[in-house]
Amino acid sequence: MRHNVEYTPICHTTMPFFARAAGLRGFIIMSKKLVAYFSAQGTTAAVAKRLAEACGGDLYEIRPQVPYSSADLNWNDKNSRSSVEMRDPAFRPALADTNAHVQDYDVVFLGFPIWWYIAPTIINTFLEAYDFSGKTIVLFATSGGSGFGKTVQGLKGSVAPTCNIIQGRVLNGSPDTATLKTWVESLNV
Ligand SMILES: Cc1cc2nc3c(=O)[nH]c(=O)nc-3n(C[C@H](O)[C@H](O)[C@H](O)COP(=O)(O)O)c2cc1C
Repeated sequence: MRHNVEYTPICHTTMPFFARAAGLRGFIIMSKKLVAYFSAQGTTAAVAKRLAEACGGDLYEIRPQVPYSSADLNWNDKNSRSSVEMRDPAFRPALADTNAHVQDYDVVFLGFPIWWYIAPTIINTFLEAYDFSGKTIVLFATSGGSGFGKTVQGLKGSVAPTCNIIQGRVLNGSPDTATLKTWVESLNV
């Protein structure tokens, strides 16, 4: 007689010993995913929402304690808030909260707009506010056309050495949920 095998989605961290010992047969391993993003003007926010649907992850907005005004974002003004902050790699804009519950997740998709060819420094603030030891971070971004440049180097110093930062994709052009799902699956995270 043929028995139906029950496939149970289960997260790495909560997987019981017997399941690991049994070679995981009969189990689909699903890492618990968080999509955390910062967006000053809404473009990255829209992509992040679709990405959360695509990967079945939770969504968390990284918000600055003081929101950026349009004057703050004027890159043509060397005295604007964003220009001043981005000139100083040690600058850490304050967060509005630290409620991301990063400890509950295995994989964090981390999204932001490219500012001056790298991640806004609030992303460093976010990384330094939590313990990312042993976790996988997949970066995604939106931009006016630039790629990641030296983004990964700029973020590595803000996490523990055991955190794996993967340079994901610049997701310009409003990719749809199906496209994002294909991308997430290709990552095998
Ligand atoms: C201060 C500032 C600096 C920027 N620097 C770059 C850049 O170096 N390269 C680029 O392609 N786009 C740059 N942009 C454009 C943003 O990356 C782009 O508009 C992004 O999609 C905005 O995302 P958001 O709407 O989620 O804030 C910059 C925008 C701002 C406000």
